[in-house]
Parts: sequence; structure tokens; C-alpha cells
Amino acid sequence: MTTETLSSEQIIALAKKYVIGNYTRYPVCLVRGSGSWVWDAEGNRYLDFFPGWGCGLLGHCPPRIVQAVQEQVALLIHVPNTWYTEPQALLAQALGERTDFGGMSFFCNSGTEANEAAIKLARLNGKPKGKYKIVTFTGSFHGRTMGALTATAQPKYHAGVEPMLPGFNYAGFGDLDGAAKVIDGETCAIMLEPIQGEGGVNPAPTGFLEGLRELCDKHGLLLILDEVQTGMGRTGTWYAYQHWNFKPDIITLAKALAGGVAMGGLVAKPEVAEKLKPGTHAATFGGNPLAARAALATLETIEQEGLLERATQIGERFRNRFLALKEKCPLVTDVRVKGAMIGVELSVEGAPVVQGCLEKGLLINCTHQTVLRLLPALTVSDEQIEDGCDIIENVLLSLKA
Ligand SMILES: Cc1ncc(COP(=O)(O)O)c(C=O)c1O
Repeated sequence: MTTETLSSEQIIALAKKYVIGNYTRYPVCLVRGSGSWVWDAEGNRYLDFFPGWGCGLLGHCPPRIVQAVQEQVALLIHVPNTWYTEPQALLAQALGERTDFGGMSFFCNSGTEANEAAIKLARLNGKPKGKYKIVTFTGSFHGRTMGALTATAQPKYHAGVEPMLPGFNYAGFGDLDGAAKVIDGETCAIMLEPIQGEGGVNPAPTGFLEGLRELCDKHGLLLILDEVQTGMGRTGTWYAYQHWNFKPDIITLAKALAGGVAMGGLVAKPEVAEKLKPGTHAATFGGNPLAARAALATLETIEQEGLLERATQIGERFRNRFLALKEKCPLVTDVRVKGAMIGVELSVEGAPVVQGCLEKGLLINCTHQTVLRLLPALTVSDEQIEDGCDIIENVLLSLKA
């Protein structure tokens, strides 16, 4: 089949006829990207502050990843996990060395799969003691498959697909006493995002993560951190937990892990990881050489271009802009920033702001109805930040309170 060059209108008509309509889409068809720029089929250029829904941590088509994939695709695309490959082994080493606990990795293809693996690993660890329940938190988002979806403590995502999986108990995000209350003799783990992403860019309150670690130690539970959105340097450290003073037992990753190529995984303490024995879990495409090479190139880019430090600078620049905006725009009620993870809480629905920005050539996201969410590339320039913030500011100031 040949690839034709179709207009946006033609592509949209085709998609509406043949692609299942489970996404809300804007009537824009993107064809090409470079860094924080992306172009549609008519050649219109957009500044992208939400590249790849968090997967484009290095922007669109980062050169080292393009090169690594081009080299690897001609060498070996995929082999099953019955064989060893160098990219997978090197990647596991690199991820493990970046934890402070000698983590060992399992690879899959998405965030929800990474969390399914973590849930199974926690249950496998708890099984000999009759423990299988997992505590998760209100406002969380862990994915769309049934285990990760049950872990996601938001009824709106459960509606229509119940019954959910047994063995999940929910507590309020930030409520340490509430978490303690739902732990019982059958609980095997606590699972949470250190900064809730979809839930509205909500960092764990002071002392909460350390308190959960203490609870886990007291009750013999595993602490699972979902770093699908926060991981890989977005917040200024390789893993977001490194901003705090504790260590998790399992970290789950996806999104930015392979610089935009589909990949997920978990990194676990060796004594926990050992329960994932042959036959207990698998993913056919997991850790394939193409994705693993892309992930290695992602780590290399972050390291060689000093992007962990840059994430912090990016955060400061956005924070300053939005705090200044809050002073003059009553619609802005809160600004939450950790590196290149930015949430601007509004007193009104954010959808018209997203639409207004799109019309002015800026792509952003709104989550939880009222939180503008930006996950800009770590390669975004100061000028791009200023230009994009000017657009957001103009759109917000043009709205009536
Ligand atoms: C924290 C978190 N966990 C899990 C997921 C699910 O990832 P995926 O869509 O790759 O399955 C997401 C997706 O937004 C997420 O933000």
C-alpha cells in the first residue's frame, strides 16, 4: 500500500469512518515535528508544550534517538525474550544504576502494563503471607487495563466496566491516617504517583511519602511508585522520588522512557524482583532492541545535554511567569511546578483556554476540568517558553472571570 499525501480534511474523514471514536480529538492532523515544533498537513506550525502526552520529553524527533533507531532498525528490530540482547542488558544496567537500590528491570510497552506488572509482583511477594491487597489514592491515574484501572481511584473511569478487581482499598491523597486505617493483615503494597499527573499535577504533601514508607516498613508492605509521568528526569532528578528522603521498592516507568518510542518497564529492589520467575509474567515486545536502543539514547541525551539541571531551570521560568500572571488574572488560583511538570489551576473550565491556545498555535492540555497541564520538552528554549506563556496569558486575560 502506498502512502498518499492527503489533506487534513481527508485524513479526518477517513479516521472518523474507520478508527474507533474513543478519543476526543482536535480537527488537526499532525505530520512532522522537530523539538518543540510540530506541523500539520497544511504546513501550519505549532509550539508544543505537551509533546506526545508526556512521551516527548526530548521534543519531537530528537536527533540521537532518530539515529539510534535508524541504526538499530537495520540491525535487529525484535527478538523474543528467549534470547539476550545487548540494548536490553545495557538499559537495565543504566536504569538500575540510577536508582539508589540496585534496581533490576522488567520491560513492557506502556504505563498500564508496567503497573500491571507491579501489581502482580506485589501480589507474588505477598502471597506466602496471604497478602494481596493494595492501597491506592484518590485522584490517582495508573492506566486503563483492569488492574491498573482498579488501582486508579477515580469512579468516573470505572463507570460502565464494573465489577472492578477485588483487593484494592482507597485512601485520600495526602491522608496518612486514612492510609493507615485501610491497611489490614491482607495488604501487600501501597501504590501511588509521587506527583499526581492526570489528577491535576498534585505533588505529595510534605512528609506523606516518607510517612507511607514508614507505614510500609511497619506492616511489611511494598511501596510502589508510579513514575510513568514523573520519571526519566522530567522533574530534575532521574526519578522523582529522589527529591525526597526515602526509597521505594518498585518504580514503574513508561511515557518518556524511550524518548517517544513505545516502552514501559519497572525497576525493583533485587530481593523483590526475584519473585518474577519464568512463567509468572511476560510481554512479547517487552525490552525489544529498537525500544531499548531508543531508551539508551534518551538517557545519553539527558546526560550529555545537562537536561536534569535544565528541567529545574525550565520549572523556575514557568513558575515565575505563572505566579506573575496569578497576580493580574483572578482566574488563576494556584500554580504547581516540579521541573518540567507544570499545573495551573483555574477557577473556570480549562477547555476554552486549550482551544484558544490552539487557535494561536500553542498546544497545551487541560486535566481534571480546571487544571492547565504542561509537560514541555527538556529541550525547549527560553524564547519558546516566553512566547508560549505570552499566548496562555493573552488567552486567559481575554476570558471573562
Ligand atoms: C502516572 C501514570 N500512570 C500510568 C499511565 C498509563 O500509561 P499508558 O497510557 O502508557 O498505559 C499514565 C498515563 O497517562 C500515567 O500518567
